[in-house]
Amino acid sequence: MSATTEKSIATHTLIESRWSPRAFSNEPVSEEQMEALFEAARWAPSAMNEQPWRFVYATKEDKAAFEKLGALLVEGNSWAKHAGALFVSIAKTSYDYDGSQNKHAWHDVGLATGNLLLQATEMGLHVHLMGGFDAARAKQALGIPEGFEAVAMGAVGYVGDPESLPEPLKAREQAPRQRQPLSKLAFKGEWKQR
Ligand SMILES: Cc1cc2nc3c(=O)[nH]c(=O)nc-3n(C[C@H](O)[C@H](O)[C@H](O)COP(=O)(O)O)c2cc1C
Repeated sequence: MSATTEKSIATHTLIESRWSPRAFSNEPVSEEQMEALFEAARWAPSAMNEQPWRFVYATKEDKAAFEKLGALLVEGNSWAKHAGALFVSIAKTSYDYDGSQNKHAWHDVGLATGNLLLQATEMGLHVHLMGGFDAARAKQALGIPEGFEAVAMGAVGYVGDPESLPEPLKAREQAPRQRQPLSKLAFKGEWKQR
């Protein structure tokens, strides 16, 4: 199943087929697959080539570690515990080269995560990113050192049956995906308020 999308301009198949499911199947995600996702992330561009991204992850096979990650999620994201793997993305907030604040750190973690998402799509996997987790608790529970901040979590797996979801998640899963029109977000020459 692919969530419906209204489109006027064709883009790459990987972009067109990526979406964020809430229903995941029981099919496991392997360590090798996770490694391929992080390898894709590794090759993202970054300010000063600082590569400020880090990831802590667990596949479902690693029960204790998976449960530790799952426990960081807010109640509303409990569906993610059915995914085959969970990860936390982490930003290194200062530059290696002079210790000053890296204002692009979160941006670059997002770029790396974008690579990861496309790689996952290529591998037939889906990833659902989540801001709904306890970042402070993640820091403590996962041993994230000073100078690093938890950015987001991701659920990785194969798309499951939307019928397995309770309402209102089921309705959301089946609703058409929404986007703002291009005219509202890209301006030629200067900002045009609309
Ligand atoms: C940084 C970030 C945080 C998000 N947090 C959540 C979340 O806590 N729970 C959730 O269900 N979805 C979350 N999402 C998923 C978005 O809701 C989703 O990407 C958006 O609705 C667009 O849908 P699509 O990914 O299927 O295109 C998050 C996405 C991002 C990038």
